Amino acid sequence: GLAVAGAALLSPRGFAKGPAPKPLPPRTLKPVTGEKPVSLVAAERPARLLGRGGPESRLWTYGDELFRLVRLRQGETLAVDFENRLPEHTSIHWHGLRIPNDQDGVPYLTQPPVKPGERHAYRFTPPDAGTFWFHPHCDTVSQLGRGLAGVMIVDGDETRPYDADLVLVLKDWRLDEPSGDWLPFTTTRGMLRAGTFGTVRSVNGEQAPTIKLPAGGDCRLRLLNLDSTRVGDLSFEGMEAAVVAIDGAPVAPFPLTDWRLGPAMRIDVVVRAPAPGATGRLVDYFSAKPVTLATFAGEGEGRSARAFDPAPLSRGAIPEPKLKGAGRLSFAFATATGGKSKLAAAAEGGDALDQALLDSLCASETVNWSINRESWPAGDHSRVPPPLFTLREGRTYVAELTNETPHVHPIHLHGFTFKVLKSTRADTPEHFADTVLLTPKDRITIAFVADRPGDWMVHCHLIEHQETGMMGYVKVA
Ligand code: C2O
Ligand code: CU
Repeated sequence: GLAVAGAALLSPRGFAKGPAPKPLPPRTLKPVTGEKPVSLVAAERPARLLGRGGPESRLWTYGDELFRLVRLRQGETLAVDFENRLPEHTSIHWHGLRIPNDQDGVPYLTQPPVKPGERHAYRFTPPDAGTFWFHPHCDTVSQLGRGLAGVMIVDGDETRPYDADLVLVLKDWRLDEPSGDWLPFTTTRGMLRAGTFGTVRSVNGEQAPTIKLPAGGDCRLRLLNLDSTRVGDLSFEGMEAAVVAIDGAPVAPFPLTDWRLGPAMRIDVVVRAPAPGATGRLVDYFSAKPVTLATFAGEGEGRSARAFDPAPLSRGAIPEPKLKGAGRLSFAFATATGGKSKLAAAAEGGDALDQALLDSLCASETVNWSINRESWPAGDHSRVPPPLFTLREGRTYVAELTNETPHVHPIHLHGFTFKVLKSTRADTPEHFADTVLLTPKDRITIAFVADRPGDWMVHCHLIEHQETGMMGYVKVA
């Protein structure tokens, strides 16, 4: 089985120790103005996820490509004409973008749901360059499970041209074989524990693809974990690799040895592509048996040999938190308070797990998870609870996130790219992010400037946790 909790999670991960990073350079690409019109049509479209000769599965997508790519230049205004041709209501949340609250795409909180047959316009100017994504914010277990997600690239952070620039979407699928039909997207056991895992892993919708790269070139790979459940422990074999951005925000480049990428999290990596005829691999070491997610083949003549030294991306416009005089917040992520002890006992039952008890708890309880002892009411989430905190517009806040469960929780704050100041479990330097992986017993300190008013969601991005209570919001006024 999968290692989802325990010793493997507790070792420090990620950053190689080295000399102090150089400051990031300013941008070289000038921002542009103007409008970028984009039409997105959410609909069911068939695709083969089990290989070329395999059956068709009924995906839900935003267009004719799986994981529709929206790409624009920094400074451009995105004007989205969205149409819902699904049999149920939906919305689009622009994950990681610091945009006005009324464009944030949360049904009942920031906009009405977009009903079947309806259209909705989104319009905003992304303030930061980087790698982002978008997805529905209701019935997400099923909608995201069927593939409803897109990638957004805002260009303008390059300081040196790359030999290639590729998107790699990591996502698992819950598929029956050989029919290609969907398996249930949620299970009692998964919902109460580490989530329900997919049965088929993929990169850009293909199982262990071979991807061609210009031999010896310096290539930017934008890795996005768009899975609802799976945490990857990623490393590159046979290729040098450096992380240049986390959740779209530039960092001083550091060697990627292994990196834990939870649901919704992204890293931009610069790799030195293999020599002509040689290959490298992207490997996930999270589970006991390493899994090769993709193979990279060096194609063409090969670039001249020079030392691998990726340039930093240009710094963005994310406001710097002023820690002196900052407001203090704390968020405790836990199981739901009702029936907590029975639930915790059942969820920790391990091999002796009593499935009947779990089923009965699940049927009798409306929610399984909480933030600060509060759970978002179950059902379609139309009953909006009071905010977890009310914040003052323009003020800096320092927030402590604590994990009172034995499971990992990728915690996401809408609207604000926060600075990760420290973790008691992971050895990471300060960096900006919009989602942070809270491992068991971890306490993570973040800081952000509450610079835009509105109701901003805070939730676990392990979707079954989010949908059964681990979801709330802060009000900035
Ligand atoms: Cu991608 Cu509310 O999240
Ligand atoms: Cu969670």
